[in-house]
Amino acid sequence: MGNPVAHSRSPEIHQMFAAQASIKIAYQRIQVDVGGFAQAVSNFQANGGQGLNITVPFKVEAWELCDVLCERAQTARAVNTLWFDNAAIHGDNTDGTGLANDILSNLQCPICDKRLLLLGAGGAVRGVLGQLLTHRPASVVISNRTVDKAVELVQRFRKLTQCNLRGCGFEEVKGLHVDIVINGTAASLRGEIPPLPPLHINDEALAYDMVYADRPTAFMNWASDLGFNKISDGLGMLVEQAAESFHIWHNVRPQTAPVIRTLRSGA
Ligand SMILES: NC(=O)c1ccc[n+]([C@@H]2O[C@H](COP(=O)([O-])OP(=O)(O)OC[C@H]3O[C@@H](n4cnc5c(N)ncnc54)[C@H](OP(=O)(O)O)[C@@H]3O)[C@@H](O)[C@H]2O)c1
Repeated sequence: MGNPVAHSRSPEIHQMFAAQASIKIAYQRIQVDVGGFAQAVSNFQANGGQGLNITVPFKVEAWELCDVLCERAQTARAVNTLWFDNAAIHGDNTDGTGLANDILSNLQCPICDKRLLLLGAGGAVRGVLGQLLTHRPASVVISNRTVDKAVELVQRFRKLTQCNLRGCGFEEVKGLHVDIVINGTAASLRGEIPPLPPLHINDEALAYDMVYADRPTAFMNWASDLGFNKISDGLGMLVEQAAESFHIWHNVRPQTAPVIRTLRSGA
């Protein structure tokens, strides 16, 4: 469920997972009007629906609607996966695990002891921050257009980490030494990039855009110009978070690599 949802590749991904596991599923995009989310979930449940993924802009409403929350969702205060146990609505957030799995397993980039720069302080960054911190980075800087939102996130997550965590605006990251920079702003969706000053990077540094597209995003082009050797969009994250949801619903852990390959090939 989301709004908009027509662009979502999740139905293809879940059908590929279901084929691997020889499970028959019906997984469809449901466009929901703003203001109609709780009713839409109730209708879905009443019609025998068993699980839901939630995307923009309903992840916070989904969190509020849950009777039972997993720790990841509680920390994020946002939910992207719902399921039902009798009348109770259960919620989890698989975005952070999806991002961490993509960086660690698919891209083979360690997070432990690395210096992270997160751009943005909206739902996406809030959803992944807790999981990234569990991988014990050396430092995390959250840089956002609206500085107060970055500072508020830092205040809330500080108690979860020993690492150096700080929030600031874009100008203040000038000359920062970073190993991994993750774009969690919605700027790429409009072909824009945050107004970033130059950063210090080394040959192993990774630039990661949570947005996925069939061609390099504006952020990926910026990273290439700055000399990053490792650059990725968010398709792997999308598939990895879907795999976590699939595991919750079906108790089967699907293989993600062939699904990512198929999606990248445009098949
Ligand atoms: N690959 C995946 O599986 C996955 C999962 C989740 C999200 N995402 C992507 O992550 C992105 C962010 O989603 P969200 O849920 O966090 O959205 P959101 O809650 O609306 O937050 C948007 C963020 O982007 C910033 N922003 C927007 N336009 C900007 C611009 N032109 N320049 C600089 N900053 C700008 C906002 O800054 P202000 O606070 O100043 O407004 C805010 O920090 C979306 O593109 C979404 O598709 C991908």
